[in-house]
Amino acid sequence: MARITAASTILSCLLFTSPTAAWGSLGHNTVALIAQSFLSPQTVNFTQSLLNDTSSTFLANVATWADSYRSTAEGRFSGVFHYIDALDTPPESCDVDFDRDCPEEGCIVSAIANYTTRVQSSNLSFVERQKALKWVIHFVGDIHQPLHVENLAVGGNQINVTFEGESANLHRIWDSDMPEKLIGGYAMADAQDWSTSLLADIKPGGKYANQSATWLTGLNLEDPIASSMHWAQDSNAYVCSTVVPEGQEGVEGKELEGEYYDSAIPVIQQQIAKAGVRLAAWLNLIVTGQPGVSLTGYGAVGNKIAIESPPAAWGKRDVKLEDWMVEARRVRRAFGSDCGPAGHHH
Ligand SMILES: *[C@@H]1O[C@H](CO)[C@@H](O)[C@H](O)[C@H]1NC(C)=O
Ligand SMILES: *[C@@H]1O[C@H](CO)[C@@H](O)[C@H](O)[C@H]1NC(C)=O
Ligand SMILES: *[C@@H]1O[C@H](CO)[C@@H](O)[C@H](O)[C@H]1NC(C)=O
Ligand SMILES: *[C@@H]1O[C@H](CO)[C@@H](O)[C@H](O)[C@H]1NC(C)=O
Ligand SMILES: *[C@@H]1O[C@H](CO)[C@@H](O)[C@H](O)[C@H]1NC(C)=O
Ligand SMILES: *[C@@H]1O[C@H](CO)[C@@H](O)[C@H](O)[C@H]1NC(C)=O
Ligand SMILES: [Zn+2]
Repeated sequence: MARITAASTILSCLLFTSPTAAWGSLGHNTVALIAQSFLSPQTVNFTQSLLNDTSSTFLANVATWADSYRSTAEGRFSGVFHYIDALDTPPESCDVDFDRDCPEEGCIVSAIANYTTRVQSSNLSFVERQKALKWVIHFVGDIHQPLHVENLAVGGNQINVTFEGESANLHRIWDSDMPEKLIGGYAMADAQDWSTSLLADIKPGGKYANQSATWLTGLNLEDPIASSMHWAQDSNAYVCSTVVPEGQEGVEGKELEGEYYDSAIPVIQQQIAKAGVRLAAWLNLIVTGQPGVSLTGYGAVGNKIAIESPPAAWGKRDVKLEDWMVEARRVRRAFGSDCGPAGHHH
């Protein structure tokens, strides 16, 4: 099992640039499978048409495309869209500030806004709208991984730990090692098993039933920046409470398969479930204008909302960063948005 886990993460680094890929394929596929089951019929039609896929895993089949694409020369520009490096000070203080934390080159929050707009732009080509949809599917997953909304040590990539005796870093174990330990694999069939169990938790009578309605607050298609900032804030709070509750020193160089894993797993499960419900709600909102997902079935749906123009907030922002923040951003840019310096992770 440990051997399979290690092989999968090495593979995902080589093929999908794992260290900042956020949830590995297990997490992304599970998010997409959960979302699929809450799509309205119109949204199923829209997404199946745009993805040209009517198979039973039509959203999941493209859930990690963005991680492959970023590692191509053509897609390199999109590497920075997979995260927002919150310049906060965990564990004392966690928060995300769009103006402070989303740099000129963009971030996951501006990317979700951009591709939400582009997926519906009638003046864009089929291929561009299809790419936009694939990015939305992926980024709504990524934004629920707490270390994708945190600057500390390049989103935990530079915090060395061990997991089940293997060298790893904090970012990677949140992406892949801990979810794969829980589920026992990373194939589509494993994602299907995980999504089935999380769906039972989300639906009436399940352990998330009475909070899943609150997961949909703050959705506003006319302000996708505010909507995705809401998700980012929510995820980032777990950096202080669960990811580094005793600071970097509390995890650096430690074996994290025991108590740490036990405290992280409920958050990972909940974040995957939440991402699935929110992705469905967001896609339903884009296609039908109805913000909700129905946990029991669909009735009438409303009219499609046309997105008029990109929000003004994408423009240049004048925020004076403190010296340590400038340095932290320099370190991130030097590290890169994928596997980091050649050979570093081998
Ligand atoms: C999807 O919607 C189009 C019209 O937008 C319609 O022609 C087509 O039959 C629908 N397909 C399904 C499977 O509902
Ligand atoms: C859809 O997929 C089929 C094969 O599965 C292919 O022949 C067709 O060209 C595709 N259409 C588009 C618009 O990509
Ligand atoms: C929006 O997406 C397009 C196409 O991928 C990209 O060229 C552009 O830089 C993006 N804009 C922002 C603000 O992210
Ligand atoms: C597409 O339409 C939007 C709004 O209708 C406009 O802001 C944008 O510039 C157009 N893009 C292109 C490439 O024409
Ligand atoms: C973390 O591990 C990598 C090798 O996996 C090593 O290059 C790096 O120096 C280590 N960092 C620290 C802070 O120990
Ligand atoms: C959620 O459900 C649990 C029982 O499963 C109950 O104890 C709790 O009060 C409920 N919370 C809310 C906010 O309804
Ligand atoms: Zn990613």
